[in-house]
Parts: sequence; structure tokens; C-alpha cells
Amino acid sequence: MASSYTCTLFILNFILLSLSTISSFEDDFVETLVATRTEKTTHLHFYFQDRPGGRNPTAVQIIARKGLGFGTTYMIDDALTRSADRGSEIIGRAQGMYSVATRNDLGLLMVVSFCFTQGKYNGSSLSMLGRNHVMDNVREMPIVGGSGLFRFARGYALAHTVWFDVKTGDATVQYNVSVNHF
Ligand SMILES: *[C@@H]1O[C@H](CO)[C@@H](O)[C@H](O)[C@H]1NC(C)=O
Ligand SMILES: *[C@@H]1O[C@H](CO)[C@@H](O)[C@H](O)[C@H]1NC(C)=O
Repeated sequence: MASSYTCTLFILNFILLSLSTISSFEDDFVETLVATRTEKTTHLHFYFQDRPGGRNPTAVQIIARKGLGFGTTYMIDDALTRSADRGSEIIGRAQGMYSVATRNDLGLLMVVSFCFTQGKYNGSSLSMLGRNHVMDNVREMPIVGGSGLFRFARGYALAHTVWFDVKTGDATVQYNVSVNHF
């Protein structure tokens, strides 16, 4: 009697152990933690130096359409500077692309990583994805994510063109970015 009871317990234990082993085998690639960190808001202010013209362009046309028409696409690795002066200190780069996404006026789809190279944010980046209706005085585009110190970032960018050369297409654009992150 006693031995049959022990035997039943043993088998039950074995089954429970096997079940827990199976479930931990299935879930061991997932871990859920309770978030306790507090979110902060960071404001960034810089100038985007778009240079499709000249001998050393940082924006190159990769899809050409007549008269900068629908579908025209540029790949960019533009400098981000501290002030509007194109020779001022470079604090990062805008890497990505933009395309003319409108058939009737000049609206761009921007797909850009702002990669910072100075100070505390060196190595961290923000991802911007959105519509840039370039003829508007101020354009708003969403910040959809980030890396490094900007992990979990989300927010928005406000852009205002401060200088534009009609002949070369070169432009300097002021950016104010607000992001929430941890
Ligand atoms: C930024 O980080 C890179 C890679 O770690 C390093 O080589 C570079 O010196 C850093 N730049 C500054 C200004 O700290
Ligand atoms: C960016 O912020 C500065 C300082 O507050 C302000 O003068 C400027 O108009 C802002 N620009 C944009 C595009 O929001």
C-alpha cells in the first residue's frame, strides 16, 4: 500500500516535471519584465545639409524622372551641423532616402536615420519616417524609433528650409526634434 502510494507520487511528480520542462522549453526565448524606468523628453536642434550639387554630393539621384516628377528618388548621407553655416561642427549624419511621392506637387516620403556622432549621443540614432511637403514653411514628420540612448524613442520632427539654391538643389534645413524615450 505504502509503496503503491509512493509509486503514484513518483509518477505524478514525473508528469508534472515533464510538463514544466516542456513549457519552459517552449517559452525560454521570451522573458517579460515589468517596466519601472521613467520616460524622459529630449529636444534636439540641428541643421540638415542636403547637397545633391557640386563635386562631392552627399545626395545622389538613384531614380530619375522627368522634372523631379513622381517617383524621383535620392539616396543621402548628409551632414547634420550645429548651426546653419555649412562649415559648422558636424554632430551627425542623415542617412537614408527620399522620394517624390506626389503626382501633382512636391511632397516627399522621407526614410531617414539621424545618426549622431558627438558627445553623449555618439552612436545613437533616431528613425524618421513621414511626409515632407517641402513648399510648406514648417513640415512635421514622425520619429518612429531609435537606437542606443534613443531606444523606444517616439516623437516628431519640425523642419524649416533656411536656404535653397535653385540651380544645384542644395538646401539647408533647420530641424527641431522632440522625442520621448527612457
Ligand atoms: C564616437 O564613437 C566612435 C565609435 O565608438 C569613436 O570612434 C569616436 O571617436 C567617437 N567620437 C566622439 C567625438 O566621441
Ligand atoms: C526651432 O526652435 C527654435 C528655438 O525655439 C525656433 O526659433 C525655430 O523657429 C524652431 N524651428 C522649427 C522648424 O520649429
